[in-house]
Amino acid sequence: MTGPQKRRKINVRLPDPPPSDRTVLEAASLAKSYGDLDVFNGVTFDIGRGERMVIMGLNGAGKTTLLKLLAGEASADAGTVTAGRRTSIGYYAQEHEGIADGRSLIDHMRMASPIGDGDARAVMGMFGLQGDKAFQDAGTLSGGEKTKLALAQLVVGGHNLLLLDEPTNNLDPPSRAAVGDALSGWPGTIILVSHDPEFVHALRPDRVLIMPEGQVDHFDESMLELVELA
Ligand SMILES: Nc1ncnc2c1ncn2[C@@H]1O[C@H](COP(=O)(O)OP(=O)(O)OP(=O)(O)O)[C@@H](O)[C@H]1O
Ligand SMILES: [Mg+2]
Repeated sequence: MTGPQKRRKINVRLPDPPPSDRTVLEAASLAKSYGDLDVFNGVTFDIGRGERMVIMGLNGAGKTTLLKLLAGEASADAGTVTAGRRTSIGYYAQEHEGIADGRSLIDHMRMASPIGDGDARAVMGMFGLQGDKAFQDAGTLSGGEKTKLALAQLVVGGHNLLLLDEPTNNLDPPSRAAVGDALSGWPGTIILVSHDPEFVHALRPDRVLIMPEGQVDHFDESMLELVELA
């Protein structure tokens, strides 16, 4: 496990997220059912500028469903999601539907952000996509590489709130560490679902939201062993 003091030096700086209001997102009394299945109800929390919250819960507890509600990709049966005036949400959902066949990685970075090609390639490098990979057809990337490209696009995309649903699932251990390093230095707000204790540790969450109960607590290191279980 890598502590903050052992974290590798990052030579590239990610672009700063645009400023957000002090309260980035508020969820009030959210409920969602699918037919007879009440996934959750009464989920209430808010998240402030620069905070990191990890959502924990067993398979089927409603973590992905909750992120979809927060991202506006599904609607709640009850309750409200209110984003701050200056909040811009970037949602990572594993389906990689934003990655187009026939366009290079560098094209994808250009589509995501006005940063120059040199910076874009440096950011891709931080996510483990080095050198001439930049010119490969993104449609031919492996699953893990698509994950890295999607995350690289998100962090340069002018968002200040990232909703990340199990972003390290397709990644090998060195890639998990690289992505953890890259995201740990990003000063925006993050809501994360992950069963990967090292990755959660690297992101140093402030708070934890337990699903399906919706209970919010301060995160402490003793919860890392629960990350794997829940
Ligand atoms: N569109 C849908 N129609 C019917 N049931 C659904 C739908 N989407 C999700 N569910 C059900 O809602 C419950 C919560 O699903 P969700 O994907 O949010 O769980 P999760 O906490 O993300 O689980 P995991 O850890 O496995 O990713 C599950 O029982 C799932 O089968
Ligand atoms: Mg899920």
